[in-house]
Amino acid sequence: MLRSQITGVGSYVPSRVVTNFDLEKMVDTSDEWITKRTGIKERHWAALGEAPSDMALQAANRALESAKLSKSQLDMIVYATLSPDHEFPGTGCFLQAKLDVPGIPALDIRQQCTGFLYALSIADQYIRNGMYRNILVIGTEMHSRGLDKTNRGRDVAVLFGDGAGAVVVRACEVVKPESDSYLFSTHLHADGRFAKELWVPAPGSALPDEERLSHAMLNENLHYAQMNGKRVFVSAVEKLMQVMGECMSANQVSTEKVDLFLLHQANLRINEAVAEHVKIPPEKVFNTIHKFGNTTAATIPLGMDEAIKAGVLKKGMLVMLAAFGSGFTWGSALLRF
Ligand code: UT7
Repeated sequence: MLRSQITGVGSYVPSRVVTNFDLEKMVDTSDEWITKRTGIKERHWAALGEAPSDMALQAANRALESAKLSKSQLDMIVYATLSPDHEFPGTGCFLQAKLDVPGIPALDIRQQCTGFLYALSIADQYIRNGMYRNILVIGTEMHSRGLDKTNRGRDVAVLFGDGAGAVVVRACEVVKPESDSYLFSTHLHADGRFAKELWVPAPGSALPDEERLSHAMLNENLHYAQMNGKRVFVSAVEKLMQVMGECMSANQVSTEKVDLFLLHQANLRINEAVAEHVKIPPEKVFNTIHKFGNTTAATIPLGMDEAIKAGVLKKGMLVMLAAFGSGFTWGSALLRF
């Protein structure tokens, strides 16, 4: 049985730490409000001159090193982000040039907080059908450049951080399904009826102006994220529970059998609500939001790397991944690490 195995994990966050107290100096907010409503204490913001693909390169090299794989053996890059280096081409191409692996396909995924799971699922399909053997799956996000750091944008600006996380996915022949390390399944969903509950309207060719970006759009703040926080919150809890249930029934496992849950990190209260409803002991959910805020597509691989470094994620563990975000999009995956 040809399946995908995660053989290397790496991550990178910029060195600049921005605490809630730092944000108090920028907008009308407080450490108490942010901590109580979200669980976030600090996040990392990139340095001037640092590009998203620079962060991606660091994470990619660390993942390759951890996989003990030469970059020349890579067959493909799948790159998830909502904060690309430029409008086009895809940032996977910029990363590919920086990694110096010309020729291999580089595919960008634009599925926001669920981006990494979409990317992993796509890599898994290429591996299962035998087309590729080694795929770099990466999620990178540089939110700090796209936040409205005035009172008008305070509801969104306090939530997001920068970072990158990467995994190397390799083809493996599963001999003992009950103990071998491999990706069991992925489950993806979207509901575009809610696309405008969390979105960045501009630049955009669907806008009535003659140009994709105009002064009027800038004046209306359309180049910043617009979010209906309460709607997103409620849907996140509901859809995460659904898609985790779907994953467990597809694999005929119960929450007791899963050793670790790596859930997207948008709000600690979302994950606490999910854990309570699905009856997962809190210690089985590995949260990183207090350190990094919401790093969107980077969150899950960054969390995976943090969990390894903390000694929480160990070889042989049964791990569930799940995410929800803009689109709306949501998904889950189950793997033996
Ligand atoms: O990955 C997916 C991406 N996003 C999410 O999953 C976000 C989901 N939503 C959330 O996490 C929460 O809805 C938020 C953290 C965004 C907001 O929490 P909330 O409990 O839903 O707060 P709220 O929107 O009801 O706002 C409460 C108050 C408002 O003031 P009034 O109207 O009660 O006077 C806001 O103006 O808090 C105010 N507020 C703030 N106060 C201090 C909004 N942002 C801030 C802020 N600091 N940064």
